[in-house]
Amino acid sequence: MPYTIEQVKALVREFPDFPSKGILFRDIFPIFRHPEAVECLVDHFVERIKALGQQVDVVVGLDARGFLFGPLIAIKLGVAFAPVRKRGKLPGEVVSVTYMKEYGPDVFEMQADALAAGQNVVIIDDLLATGGSCKAAEDLVAQLKGNVLLSAFVISLVGLEGDKKLKAPVYALIEC
Ligand code: PRP
Ligand code: ADE
Repeated sequence: MPYTIEQVKALVREFPDFPSKGILFRDIFPIFRHPEAVECLVDHFVERIKALGQQVDVVVGLDARGFLFGPLIAIKLGVAFAPVRKRGKLPGEVVSVTYMKEYGPDVFEMQADALAAGQNVVIIDDLLATGGSCKAAEDLVAQLKGNVLLSAFVISLVGLEGDKKLKAPVYALIEC
């Protein structure tokens, strides 16, 4: 049975005090129990991206939950997918950036040949919190001389003002 986008939103669950006390964890995995919910979500993102009215060359997904949606969106757009991965996972020449996580610094990397100078990029991830991860991804794309047109998320925790760290516009299906 086809899903509406409101039904997809209703599949996201909340877990108090996970993975540590005081964190309200938003769990997107129930969406993946329903193939038609995934299809609805992917189509929703694709329509938002097409509405930009600009050529998109590469969809960039963030490790790890951005890998669930990013390639599906790239396939429907008929464009490339490129992963941003945590340190030491990508072979060949990489560009790197250090960013702040809750418990200290971490490193994100992209393969140097993942995109060409001047290409237009959309960044995809499941959730925008402080914005540190997405800001790091913007930085990697900038190192490769790409242009970020949009960063799109299933969920944005608006109170954390992650969007204020970012240069490119932000879209989130759920703002909470
Ligand atoms: C989570 C989430 C985002 C990031 C958001 O990933 O999937 O990528 O945190 O937080 P921020 O806006 O404060 O940077 P996490 O780094 O926990 O990795 P995971 O996807 O491997 O669980
Ligand atoms: N990543 C960072 N904060 C999160 C949250 N509240 N729920 C799920 N993933 C997260």
